[in-house]
Amino acid sequence: MRLLAINGSPRRGGNTDRLLEKFIEGAVRAGAETRTLVVCDLKIEGCRHCDACLAKGQCMVQDDMQGVYRELEAADSIVIGSPLHFMSVSAQLKALIDRCQAMWSRKYVLKIPPLGDVRQRKGFLISVGGRRSIPNLFEAELVTIKTFFRTLDVSYCGELLIPGIDARDDIMKHPEALEKAFEEGRELVEKS
Ligand SMILES: Cc1cc2nc3c(=O)[nH]c(=O)nc-3n(C[C@H](O)[C@H](O)[C@H](O)COP(=O)(O)O)c2cc1C
Repeated sequence: MRLLAINGSPRRGGNTDRLLEKFIEGAVRAGAETRTLVVCDLKIEGCRHCDACLAKGQCMVQDDMQGVYRELEAADSIVIGSPLHFMSVSAQLKALIDRCQAMWSRKYVLKIPPLGDVRQRKGFLISVGGRRSIPNLFEAELVTIKTFFRTLDVSYCGELLIPGIDARDDIMKHPEALEKAFEEGRELVEKS
């Protein structure tokens, strides 16, 4: 089982990093092969809405997103990690998501599998936010992520959402959240 981890945080060594690391550890313990993409290390332009992908389902912009497409296609499961930024995913991750308009074209216009085959892929979200728990804190982000996974024909299978985490190390004060991330990673693989 090949797990692709997409890290949308621009802060290295921060909360998302640590939770994703634990999730990956759990997945590896259960036998997964993993690959991690740190989105802020990649050069990914925003979608130009040029509509070139409507013809062949390929994006014509030649940047690091071309490698991301290959990783998405190769994955059996995908875990996305992002801090809340203005109530949704980070801008870096949003650029990656928008560039999957090419997958949207494949699925809804060309009627072909968005990731090239009809494998049963699973998706999971990890997110942290600085604000204390308020109703619907993660709601906007969840809509974006669930729409993204649906477009890729990836079944949404769970989330770990942690409010009240702001400073770089805050998550270290929550060993139960790190443990939960490990367990979720292990379970995702064991149930696949
Ligand atoms: C640009 C920016 C926007 C943010 N917007 C929100 C927000 O809307 N809601 C929230 O709860 N936290 C917000 N935060 C706080 C981060 O979600 C929080 O610090 C988080 O722990 C960062 O995670 P990281 O260490 O993985 O990058 C924002 C932080 C930044 C830098």
